[in-house]
Amino acid sequence: MLLEIKELETHFFTYEGVVKALNKLDLTIYKGETLGLVGETGCGKSVTALSILRLVPAPPGKIVGGKVFFEGENLLEKEEKEMRKIRGSKISMIFQNPTSSLNPVFTVGNQVTTVTRTHQKGSKREAQKKATEMFELVRLPDPERTLWKYPHELSGGMQQRIMIAMALSCEPSLLIADEPTTALDVTIQAQVLNLIKRLKEETKTSILLITHNLGIVAKMCDRVVVMYAGEVVEEASLNKIFEAPKHPYTMGLLGAIPKLNQKEKLEVIKGSVCSLIDPPQGCRFYPRCSSFTEICQKEKPARVKIEEDHFVSCHLYNF
Ligand SMILES: Nc1ncnc2c1ncn2[C@@H]1O[C@H](COP(=O)(O)OP(=O)(O)OP(=O)(O)O)[C@@H](O)[C@H]1O
Ligand SMILES: [Mg+2]
Repeated sequence: MLLEIKELETHFFTYEGVVKALNKLDLTIYKGETLGLVGETGCGKSVTALSILRLVPAPPGKIVGGKVFFEGENLLEKEEKEMRKIRGSKISMIFQNPTSSLNPVFTVGNQVTTVTRTHQKGSKREAQKKATEMFELVRLPDPERTLWKYPHELSGGMQQRIMIAMALSCEPSLLIADEPTTALDVTIQAQVLNLIKRLKEETKTSILLITHNLGIVAKMCDRVVVMYAGEVVEEASLNKIFEAPKHPYTMGLLGAIPKLNQKEKLEVIKGSVCSLIDPPQGCRFYPRCSSFTEICQKEKPARVKIEEDHFVSCHLYNF
Protein backbone atom coordinates (compact mmCIF):
# COMPACT_ATOMS: atom_id res chain seq x y z
CA MET A 1 0.00 0.00 0.00
CA LEU A 2 1.42 3.34 -1.03
CA LEU A 3 -1.26 5.85 -0.06
CA GLU A 4 -4.18 5.44 2.27
CA ILE A 5 -6.79 8.14 2.73
CA LYS A 6 -9.00 7.74 5.80
CA GLU A 7 -12.24 9.65 6.35
CA LEU A 8 -10.93 12.74 4.62
CA GLU A 9 -13.09 15.83 4.93
CA THR A 10 -12.34 18.95 2.92
CA HIS A 11 -14.70 21.90 3.16
CA PHE A 12 -14.94 25.29 1.45
CA PHE A 13 -16.25 28.11 3.58
CA THR A 14 -18.14 30.33 1.14
CA TYR A 15 -20.72 33.12 1.47
CA GLU A 16 -23.46 30.73 0.42
CA GLY A 17 -22.48 28.26 3.11
CA VAL A 18 -20.03 25.44 3.80
CA VAL A 19 -19.37 23.33 0.70
CA LYS A 20 -18.64 19.84 1.99
CA ALA A 21 -16.58 18.81 -1.00
CA LEU A 22 -15.22 15.61 0.55
CA ASN A 23 -17.32 13.70 3.04
CA LYS A 24 -15.30 11.06 4.94
CA LEU A 25 -13.56 9.87 1.84
CA ASP A 26 -11.65 6.58 1.99
CA LEU A 27 -9.26 5.70 -0.79
CA THR A 28 -6.25 3.43 -1.15
CA ILE A 29 -3.58 3.38 -3.82
CA TYR A 30 -1.35 0.32 -4.08
CA LYS A 31 2.26 0.25 -5.24
CA GLY A 32 2.63 0.14 -9.00
CA GLU A 33 -1.05 0.40 -9.87
CA THR A 34 -2.94 2.89 -11.98
CA LEU A 35 -6.07 3.86 -10.10
CA GLY A 36 -8.83 5.62 -12.01
CA LEU A 37 -10.89 8.19 -10.12
CA VAL A 38 -14.13 8.89 -11.96
CA GLY A 39 -17.34 10.80 -11.42
CA GLU A 40 -19.25 13.71 -12.88
CA THR A 41 -18.07 17.27 -12.76
CA GLY A 42 -18.08 18.79 -9.28
CA CYS A 43 -18.02 15.50 -7.38
CA GLY A 44 -14.66 16.20 -5.72
CA LYS A 45 -12.00 14.52 -7.85
CA SER A 46 -9.67 17.50 -8.08
CA VAL A 47 -10.25 18.40 -4.45
CA THR A 48 -9.13 14.87 -3.55
CA ALA A 49 -5.91 15.36 -5.52
CA LEU A 50 -5.28 18.79 -4.04
CA SER A 51 -5.97 17.51 -0.53
CA ILE A 52 -3.38 14.73 -0.91
CA LEU A 53 -0.78 17.36 -1.79
CA ARG A 54 -2.16 19.84 0.74
CA LEU A 55 -2.71 22.36 -2.04
CA VAL A 56 -6.38 23.12 -1.39
CA PRO A 57 -6.69 26.91 -1.79
CA ALA A 58 -7.11 28.32 1.71
CA PRO A 59 -9.23 30.29 2.32
CA PRO A 60 -11.92 29.28 1.40
CA GLY A 61 -10.78 25.65 1.56
CA LYS A 62 -9.71 23.66 4.59
CA ILE A 63 -9.08 20.03 5.37
CA VAL A 64 -11.21 19.62 8.48
CA GLY A 65 -10.79 15.93 9.21
CA GLY A 66 -9.21 12.63 8.29
CA LYS A 67 -5.78 11.25 7.56
CA VAL A 68 -3.63 10.80 4.48
CA PHE A 69 -1.01 8.13 5.02
CA PHE A 70 1.79 8.12 2.47
CA GLU A 71 4.53 5.54 2.88
CA GLY A 72 3.16 5.06 6.40
CA GLU A 73 3.22 8.71 7.51
CA ASN A 74 0.26 11.07 7.86
CA LEU A 75 0.81 13.93 5.42
CA LEU A 76 -1.75 16.08 7.22
CA GLU A 77 0.54 16.26 10.24
CA LYS A 78 3.61 17.35 8.34
CA GLU A 79 5.18 20.79 8.47
CA GLU A 80 4.75 22.83 5.30
CA LYS A 81 8.53 22.61 4.82
CA GLU A 82 8.41 18.81 4.73
CA MET A 83 5.42 18.89 2.39
CA ARG A 84 7.36 21.05 -0.02
CA LYS A 85 10.03 18.37 -0.17
CA ILE A 86 7.47 15.68 -0.88
CA ARG A 87 5.69 17.60 -3.61
CA GLY A 88 7.45 17.18 -6.88
CA SER A 89 9.88 14.59 -5.55
CA LYS A 90 7.81 11.74 -4.07
CA ILE A 91 4.38 12.80 -5.23
CA SER A 92 4.00 14.87 -8.34
CA MET A 93 1.06 16.11 -10.28
CA ILE A 94 0.16 16.86 -13.88
CA PHE A 95 -2.68 19.33 -14.33
CA GLN A 96 -5.31 19.60 -17.00
CA ASN A 97 -4.04 22.70 -18.69
CA PRO A 98 -0.32 22.72 -19.52
CA THR A 99 -0.40 26.29 -20.83
CA SER A 100 -1.36 27.75 -17.49
CA SER A 101 0.99 25.45 -15.56
CA LEU A 102 4.14 26.51 -17.39
CA ASN A 103 5.65 29.91 -16.75
CA PRO A 104 5.64 31.91 -20.01
CA VAL A 105 8.72 33.99 -19.20
CA PHE A 106 11.23 31.15 -18.68
CA THR A 107 12.48 28.58 -21.15
CA VAL A 108 11.12 25.10 -20.59
CA GLY A 109 14.66 23.83 -19.95
CA ASN A 110 15.04 26.39 -17.20
CA GLN A 111 11.76 25.26 -15.61
CA VAL A 112 12.61 21.56 -15.72
CA THR A 113 16.09 22.06 -14.28
CA THR A 114 14.68 24.27 -11.53
CA VAL A 115 12.47 21.39 -10.43
CA THR A 116 15.25 18.82 -10.45
CA ARG A 117 17.74 21.12 -8.72
CA THR A 118 15.25 21.90 -5.96
CA HIS A 119 15.02 18.25 -5.08
CA GLN A 120 18.30 16.70 -6.15
CA LYS A 121 21.92 17.66 -5.67
CA GLY A 122 24.21 18.26 -8.62
CA SER A 123 25.52 20.96 -10.92
CA LYS A 124 23.57 22.94 -13.46
CA ARG A 125 25.23 20.98 -16.23
CA GLU A 126 24.11 17.69 -14.70
CA ALA A 127 20.58 19.01 -14.31
CA GLN A 128 20.57 19.99 -17.98
CA LYS A 129 21.78 16.55 -18.98
CA LYS A 130 19.01 15.00 -16.90
CA ALA A 131 16.44 17.33 -18.49
CA THR A 132 17.61 16.31 -21.96
CA GLU A 133 17.24 12.66 -20.99
CA MET A 134 13.73 13.30 -19.65
CA PHE A 135 12.79 15.06 -22.89
CA GLU A 136 14.04 12.04 -24.80
CA LEU A 137 12.04 9.76 -22.55
CA VAL A 138 8.82 11.62 -23.27
CA ARG A 139 9.71 11.60 -26.98
CA LEU A 140 10.06 15.32 -27.49
CA PRO A 141 11.69 15.97 -30.86
CA ASP A 142 15.18 17.46 -30.76
CA PRO A 143 15.45 17.51 -26.94
CA GLU A 144 18.59 19.62 -26.72
CA ARG A 145 17.11 22.47 -28.72
CA THR A 146 13.71 22.19 -27.07
CA LEU A 147 15.38 23.04 -23.74
CA TRP A 148 15.89 26.59 -24.99
CA LYS A 149 12.34 27.16 -26.14
CA TYR A 150 9.66 29.19 -24.42
CA PRO A 151 6.25 27.59 -23.75
CA HIS A 152 4.48 29.62 -26.47
CA GLU A 153 6.84 28.19 -29.09
CA LEU A 154 5.51 24.68 -28.40
CA SER A 155 2.22 22.98 -29.23
CA GLY A 156 -0.24 21.89 -26.53
CA GLY A 157 0.84 18.25 -26.86
CA MET A 158 4.52 19.19 -26.51
CA GLN A 159 3.76 21.36 -23.50
CA GLN A 160 1.95 18.47 -21.86
CA ARG A 161 4.96 16.21 -22.55
CA ILE A 162 7.13 18.78 -20.81
CA MET A 163 4.77 18.77 -17.83
CA ILE A 164 5.06 14.97 -17.73
CA ALA A 165 8.86 15.16 -18.03
CA MET A 166 8.89 17.62 -15.15
CA ALA A 167 6.56 15.50 -13.05
CA LEU A 168 8.68 12.40 -13.60
CA SER A 169 12.11 13.99 -13.38
CA CYS A 170 12.46 13.26 -9.66
CA GLU A 171 11.19 9.70 -10.01
CA PRO A 172 8.09 10.10 -7.84
CA SER A 173 6.47 7.07 -6.27
CA LEU A 174 3.04 8.59 -6.97
CA LEU A 175 2.01 10.55 -10.03
CA ILE A 176 -1.34 12.30 -9.87
CA ALA A 177 -2.71 13.12 -13.30
CA ASP A 178 -5.83 15.30 -13.21
CA GLU A 179 -7.50 15.19 -16.63
CA PRO A 180 -4.04 15.12 -18.24
CA THR A 181 -5.30 15.03 -21.81
CA THR A 182 -8.62 16.86 -21.75
CA ALA A 183 -7.14 19.99 -23.30
CA LEU A 184 -5.55 18.06 -26.18
CA ASP A 185 -7.00 16.90 -29.47
CA VAL A 186 -7.75 13.22 -29.92
CA THR A 187 -4.61 12.03 -31.72
CA ILE A 188 -2.29 13.87 -29.35
CA GLN A 189 -4.43 12.61 -26.46
CA ALA A 190 -3.76 9.01 -27.53
CA GLN A 191 -0.02 9.70 -27.83
CA VAL A 192 0.20 11.27 -24.39
CA LEU A 193 -1.78 8.41 -22.81
CA ASN A 194 0.43 5.81 -24.48
CA LEU A 195 3.39 7.72 -23.17
CA ILE A 196 2.08 7.74 -19.58
CA LYS A 197 1.33 4.03 -19.86
CA ARG A 198 4.80 3.20 -21.13
CA LEU A 199 6.49 5.36 -18.51
CA LYS A 200 4.52 3.64 -15.80
CA GLU A 201 5.71 0.26 -17.02
CA GLU A 202 9.29 1.48 -17.11
CA THR A 203 9.37 3.39 -13.83
CA LYS A 204 6.83 1.40 -11.70
CA THR A 205 5.33 4.66 -10.47
CA SER A 206 1.80 4.41 -9.06
CA ILE A 207 -0.65 6.64 -10.88
CA LEU A 208 -3.85 8.29 -9.72
CA LEU A 209 -5.62 9.08 -12.95
CA ILE A 210 -8.52 11.50 -12.68
CA THR A 211 -10.86 11.66 -15.61
CA HIS A 212 -14.50 11.58 -16.52
CA ASN A 213 -13.68 9.75 -19.72
CA LEU A 214 -14.42 6.07 -19.15
CA GLY A 215 -12.75 5.16 -22.43
CA ILE A 216 -9.48 6.43 -20.98
CA VAL A 217 -10.10 4.49 -17.78
CA ALA A 218 -10.63 1.28 -19.75
CA LYS A 219 -7.36 1.79 -21.56
CA MET A 220 -5.20 2.85 -18.66
CA CYS A 221 -6.38 1.64 -15.25
CA ASP A 222 -6.03 -1.46 -13.09
CA ARG A 223 -8.64 -0.42 -10.58
CA VAL A 224 -11.41 2.16 -10.45
CA VAL A 225 -12.94 4.30 -7.72
CA VAL A 226 -16.28 5.93 -8.53
CA MET A 227 -17.07 9.15 -6.67
CA TYR A 228 -20.38 10.85 -6.27
CA ALA A 229 -20.93 14.16 -4.45
CA GLY A 230 -17.80 13.94 -2.33
CA GLU A 231 -18.10 10.26 -1.45
CA VAL A 232 -16.86 6.95 -2.83
CA VAL A 233 -19.83 4.93 -4.07
CA GLU A 234 -18.09 1.99 -5.70
CA GLU A 235 -14.60 0.58 -5.93
CA ALA A 236 -13.44 -2.45 -7.95
CA SER A 237 -10.99 -3.84 -10.44
CA LEU A 238 -11.35 -2.50 -13.97
CA ASN A 239 -13.12 -5.60 -15.31
CA LYS A 240 -15.66 -5.70 -12.52
CA ILE A 241 -16.55 -2.04 -12.92
CA PHE A 242 -17.20 -2.51 -16.62
CA GLU A 243 -18.68 -6.01 -16.58
CA ALA A 244 -20.53 -6.15 -13.28
CA PRO A 245 -21.13 -2.62 -11.97
CA LYS A 246 -23.28 -2.60 -8.85
CA HIS A 247 -24.07 0.99 -7.98
CA PRO A 248 -26.90 2.61 -9.96
CA TYR A 249 -24.63 5.63 -10.41
CA THR A 250 -21.82 3.54 -11.93
CA MET A 251 -24.36 1.87 -14.20
CA GLY A 252 -25.58 5.30 -15.21
CA LEU A 253 -22.07 6.51 -16.00
CA LEU A 254 -21.45 3.42 -18.13
CA GLY A 255 -24.79 3.89 -19.91
CA ALA A 256 -23.69 7.36 -20.87
CA ILE A 257 -20.74 6.21 -23.02
CA PRO A 258 -21.58 6.64 -26.70
CA LYS A 259 -21.13 3.42 -28.68
CA LEU A 260 -20.35 3.04 -32.35
CA ASN A 261 -23.48 2.63 -34.51
CA GLN A 262 -25.72 3.45 -31.61
CA LYS A 263 -29.20 4.25 -32.87
CA GLU A 264 -31.10 4.75 -29.65
CA LYS A 265 -30.67 7.89 -27.59
CA LEU A 266 -27.83 8.01 -25.08
CA GLU A 267 -28.97 7.09 -21.63
CA VAL A 268 -27.99 9.81 -19.23
CA ILE A 269 -28.42 10.04 -15.51
CA LYS A 270 -31.31 12.38 -14.90
CA GLY A 271 -30.83 15.55 -12.91
CA SER A 272 -27.52 16.90 -11.71
CA VAL A 273 -25.12 16.47 -8.79
CA CYS A 274 -26.77 17.44 -5.50
CA SER A 275 -25.83 20.51 -3.53
CA LEU A 276 -22.75 19.98 -1.43
CA ILE A 277 -23.81 22.74 0.94
CA ASP A 278 -27.06 21.04 1.85
CA PRO A 279 -26.82 17.44 0.57
CA PRO A 280 -29.76 15.06 0.90
CA GLN A 281 -29.91 13.03 4.08
CA GLY A 282 -29.33 9.34 3.58
CA CYS A 283 -27.86 8.37 0.23
CA ARG A 284 -26.68 11.43 -1.67
CA PHE A 285 -27.61 9.82 -4.97
CA TYR A 286 -31.21 8.87 -4.16
CA PRO A 287 -32.92 11.91 -5.80
CA ARG A 288 -31.49 10.76 -9.15
CA CYS A 289 -31.75 7.02 -8.61
CA SER A 290 -34.40 4.91 -10.29
CA SER A 291 -34.23 2.15 -7.67
CA PHE A 292 -34.49 4.18 -4.47
CA THR A 293 -36.69 3.10 -1.58
CA GLU A 294 -37.64 4.70 1.71
CA ILE A 295 -34.47 3.71 3.51
CA CYS A 296 -32.33 5.51 0.91
CA GLN A 297 -33.88 8.82 1.93
CA LYS A 298 -33.11 8.29 5.60
CA GLU A 299 -29.97 6.29 6.07
CA LYS A 300 -26.57 6.58 4.61
CA PRO A 301 -25.70 3.26 2.93
CA ALA A 302 -22.82 1.34 4.50
CA ARG A 303 -19.92 0.12 2.44
CA VAL A 304 -20.65 -3.47 1.42
CA LYS A 305 -18.11 -5.99 0.26
CA ILE A 306 -19.40 -7.78 -2.84
CA GLU A 307 -16.22 -9.71 -3.52
CA GLU A 308 -12.60 -9.62 -2.43
CA ASP A 309 -11.83 -6.48 -4.46
CA HIS A 310 -15.28 -5.05 -5.04
CA PHE A 311 -17.03 -2.63 -2.67
CA VAL A 312 -20.24 -0.68 -3.06
CA SER A 313 -22.15 1.79 -0.87
CA CYS A 314 -25.79 1.20 -1.77
CA HIS A 315 -28.84 -0.07 0.12
CA LEU A 316 -29.65 -2.49 -2.72
CA TYR A 317 -26.84 -4.69 -1.47
CA ASN A 318 -27.28 -4.15 2.23
CA PHE A 319 -29.04 -7.18 3.61
N1 LIG B 1 -12.05 27.29 -4.37
C1 LIG B 1 -13.27 26.77 -4.18
N2 LIG B 1 -14.23 27.47 -3.54
C2 LIG B 1 -15.46 26.96 -3.32
N3 LIG B 1 -15.84 25.73 -3.72
C3 LIG B 1 -14.93 24.98 -4.36
C4 LIG B 1 -13.61 25.45 -4.64
N4 LIG B 1 -12.93 24.48 -5.29
C5 LIG B 1 -13.80 23.46 -5.43
N5 LIG B 1 -14.99 23.74 -4.87
C6 LIG B 1 -16.18 22.88 -4.83
O1 LIG B 1 -15.82 21.56 -4.48
C7 LIG B 1 -16.59 20.64 -5.21
C8 LIG B 1 -15.68 19.61 -5.88
O2 LIG B 1 -14.95 20.25 -6.91
P1 LIG B 1 -13.83 19.53 -7.77
O3 LIG B 1 -13.09 20.58 -8.50
O4 LIG B 1 -13.06 18.60 -6.92
O5 LIG B 1 -14.71 18.68 -8.80
P2 LIG B 1 -14.19 17.67 -9.92
O6 LIG B 1 -14.76 16.33 -9.59
O7 LIG B 1 -12.73 17.77 -10.06
O8 LIG B 1 -14.93 18.24 -11.21
P3 LIG B 1 -14.39 18.35 -12.73
O9 LIG B 1 -14.66 17.02 -13.34
O10 LIG B 1 -15.24 19.41 -13.32
O11 LIG B 1 -12.95 18.70 -12.69
C9 LIG B 1 -17.44 21.43 -6.17
O12 LIG B 1 -18.73 21.52 -5.66
C10 LIG B 1 -16.78 22.77 -6.20
O13 LIG B 1 -17.75 23.78 -6.42
MG1 LIG C 1 -11.46 18.48 -11.56
